[in-house]
Amino acid sequence: KKILTVVGARPQFVKVAAVSRKLRNSFHEVMVDTGQHYDYKMAGVFFDELDIPKPDYSLNVGSGSHGLQTGNMMVKIEEVVFKEKPDAVLVYGDTNSTLAGSLVASKLHVPLFHVEAGLRSYNKRMPEEINRVLTDHISSLLFTPTETASLNLAKEGIVHNVHLVGDVMFDAVNYYWSQSEKKYDLNSFSLKDKDYYLATIHRAENTNNIAILTAIIKSLIDLNESVILPLHPRTQQKINDSALRGVLAQQSNVKIIDPVSYLEMILLEKHAKAIITDSGGVQKEAYFAKVPCFTLRSETEWVETVESGWNVLVDPMNQSLKQVIEMYNVPSQHMMLYGDGNAAQKIVDQIELWFKSR
Ligand code: UD1
Ligand code: UDP
Repeated sequence: KKILTVVGARPQFVKVAAVSRKLRNSFHEVMVDTGQHYDYKMAGVFFDELDIPKPDYSLNVGSGSHGLQTGNMMVKIEEVVFKEKPDAVLVYGDTNSTLAGSLVASKLHVPLFHVEAGLRSYNKRMPEEINRVLTDHISSLLFTPTETASLNLAKEGIVHNVHLVGDVMFDAVNYYWSQSEKKYDLNSFSLKDKDYYLATIHRAENTNNIAILTAIIKSLIDLNESVILPLHPRTQQKINDSALRGVLAQQSNVKIIDPVSYLEMILLEKHAKAIITDSGGVQKEAYFAKVPCFTLRSETEWVETVESGWNVLVDPMNQSLKQVIEMYNVPSQHMMLYGDGNAAQKIVDQIELWFKSR
C-alpha cells in the first residue's frame, strides 16, 4: 500500500523522523514537503541530521498569509495526489501543512490518517486549534498521544478508529538522546550543566502583539541569569523591526542564537536548569527530560504536564516570571504520561490492521 506523507514545518520533521523509520518497513511511503519552513536551520538540517528520507516532492510553498499559504499548498498537494494515487494520506500535528494535506485528501476521498490527534487548547483564536479540529473531523484513523486527547475526541463524537498510541516525540527523544550527547557538548555554547535557562518563543499570539513580546523579552532579562534563546525567524524579525532590538543590545544575560538543530536542542533541553517556552513540542520535551518548564501561554494542550507539576503556565503581561520561578518546587514524582516510546510502531500496526479490515 502507498502512503502519502505530508509535512512542512519544524515539529513535523521531528515526528516524521520517528514514524517514517517504522512505516517504511511495511508500506511504500511517498514524502511530500510543502516547504512551509524553508531556511536550512528550520528544515534542511532536520532531514540531514535525523536521516529523514529525502522528500519525493518539495512543493516550495514558503511563507504567506494563512489563505495564500494553505491554498497554494492545497493546489500543489492535489496535483501530487492525482499523480501518485495513494491509498492514504498521513498528516502530523496542527500546522497549515497539516490542514492543506487533510482537506485535499478528504475532498478526493482518500483516507486520512492523523498523528497527534485530539489535542485541544479550546482557544479558537489559535490557527493551530482550527487546523487540528478540522483535521480530526475528517480523519479515517486517529492516533492520540494521551488519554486526554482521546477523551477530547469522544466529547466531539469521534470514537471510532481512535487509537491511543503514545507520543511519537517521546519515541524521538529516546532514539536521539544518546546521538545528541555524542555529537554535541555544552562547551560549544559556552554553557554549564544546570546553569542556564533555555527559552523559545514563536507563537503567533506572543509575537504578533509587540506589547506581549516586549513583556516576554523583559521577563527574560529580569531573570538576571544566563538565558539561551534559539530564536525562530518570525520572532527575530519582530525584534529587528522594533525597539526590542535596542533593549536586547543593552543587556548581557539573554543570548540570542539562530535556531539550533534537533540534536543540539535536546542537549540544551536536558542540561537546562529550566525551560521557558511557548512551543508545544518543547513543553513535552522538557517533561521527557525531567526539566521544569514555564510556558508563556494562557492554556496548553499538554495538560498532563501542568497537572503533574512539571509545567507552569505564566502570563508575562500580568505575572513576574522571576517570582513564579523563585516560588516553584520541583515535583518528587515523574510518571510516564506519553506512552512507552513505541508510538510509531503502534501506528504502523494499526494502519496495517485498518487496511486488512477493509
Ligand atoms: C508554524 C505553525 C505553528 C508551529 C510552528 C513551528 C501554522 C499556522 N503555524 O508557525 O503551529 O508551532 O510552525 O515552528 O502552521 N519564516 C522564515 N523562515 C522559515 C520559516 C518561517 O523566515 O523557514 C518566517 C517567515 O517570515 C514566516 C514566519 O516565519 O512568515 C512564520 O512562518 P509560518 O510557517 O507561517 O508560521 P510559524 O510561526 O513558523
Ligand atoms: N526545535 C529545534 N531547534 C530549535 C527549536 C526547536 O530543533 O531551535 C525542535 C524542538 O526540540 C521540538 C520541535 O522543534 O522537537 C518543536 O517545534 P516548534 O517549537 O517549532 O513547534 P511546536 O512544537 O510549538 O509546534
